[in-house]
Amino acid sequence: MTLLTPGPCPMYPEVRQALREPLIHHRSSEFKSSYQYCKESLRALFKTEGDVLILLSTGSGGLEASLSSYLKPLDKVLVLSSGKFGERWGDILRAKNIQYDLIQKDEGDFFSAQDLPVDVSKKNYKMLCVQACETSTGTKHDIDSLGKSLASLSPETLFCVDGITAVGAYPVSQKGSKIDILVSGSQKALALPAGMSFVGLSPRAIDQLNPQASSDYFNLHAELQSQKKNQTRYSGSSHLILALKAALGLYEQKGESYYFNQVLSLNQMMAEALKSKSLKNFSKNPSPSLTAFEIPDQKAEELKTKLEKKKYLLASGQGVLKNKILRVGHMGNIETNIFKKFISTFKELI
Ligand SMILES: Cc1ncc(COP(=O)(O)O)c(C=O)c1O
Repeated sequence: MTLLTPGPCPMYPEVRQALREPLIHHRSSEFKSSYQYCKESLRALFKTEGDVLILLSTGSGGLEASLSSYLKPLDKVLVLSSGKFGERWGDILRAKNIQYDLIQKDEGDFFSAQDLPVDVSKKNYKMLCVQACETSTGTKHDIDSLGKSLASLSPETLFCVDGITAVGAYPVSQKGSKIDILVSGSQKALALPAGMSFVGLSPRAIDQLNPQASSDYFNLHAELQSQKKNQTRYSGSSHLILALKAALGLYEQKGESYYFNQVLSLNQMMAEALKSKSLKNFSKNPSPSLTAFEIPDQKAEELKTKLEKKKYLLASGQGVLKNKILRVGHMGNIETNIFKKFISTFKELI
């Protein structure tokens, strides 16, 4: 089966090889030096002058850790949401009894600086939460304008961005877009198995880390202390770290423009295929990392099944979008020739 889902994504041979290596102990010097390499390489990937913490959880754990480590019961948060992943902020905040205001837009719509309330500075928000890419609709939010505008209108508010289907797939700069907390996940642009999240902290986010987080396990203050010693707090998954080292080594060797161009070229091929079949992209501001497209007459799942029979796996629409849209990923080790074959099968089946 060819994985064309927006995560997990096809792995590179170097990563598969690393996963086959013999187990090393997570307190050994070999582990520590691999860990140190990963931390430094992630700082370059995130474009931050702070630190990037590696958590052994899926991306959602990185989101939860970010909220647990900064928020206290009387804090107020502003959430921007136009899809299933935007809703996740609210799910975590409700579980923690933290108050939040929600600005909601239709699915497929996007946020930019002009959506910030004019009186945002008066609300004393501790944090603003948004996705860089809303994966459920293939939509890119304008985090650069949001970050810059928030920094000038409400400089005390921490800017927390879920960059899970953005970091590494297209240009995102933690420093440039004034992001305090930037979360990513292993099964997306780095094309690793799920199971690691990466949390980039700006220098001021590091200064504000609260030792008394509302979770013991998801406590970024404690994580940072261990990670300064190139140690995981609890048992480390050596295989995931070795695979991460391989993926980051490859990223450095090929260069970020290789990855960005590859994602963009598959995205463009998909856009042309949709156009030739008079199909519509679902998003008002499409992300390069995946394409969400509409299939009329509630026939999306039928097409998905037909493609699966031809050994191509796409992702369904979520919630109310089930059977209305399909999503195809452009991240990971997807060779151009293989994608071209997929496109011609796709066109035949429409
Ligand atoms: C934007 C976004 N946020 C959060 C998640 C949740 O990540 P995970 O399934 O790794 O917990 C995903 C997963 O696809 C995502 O795309």
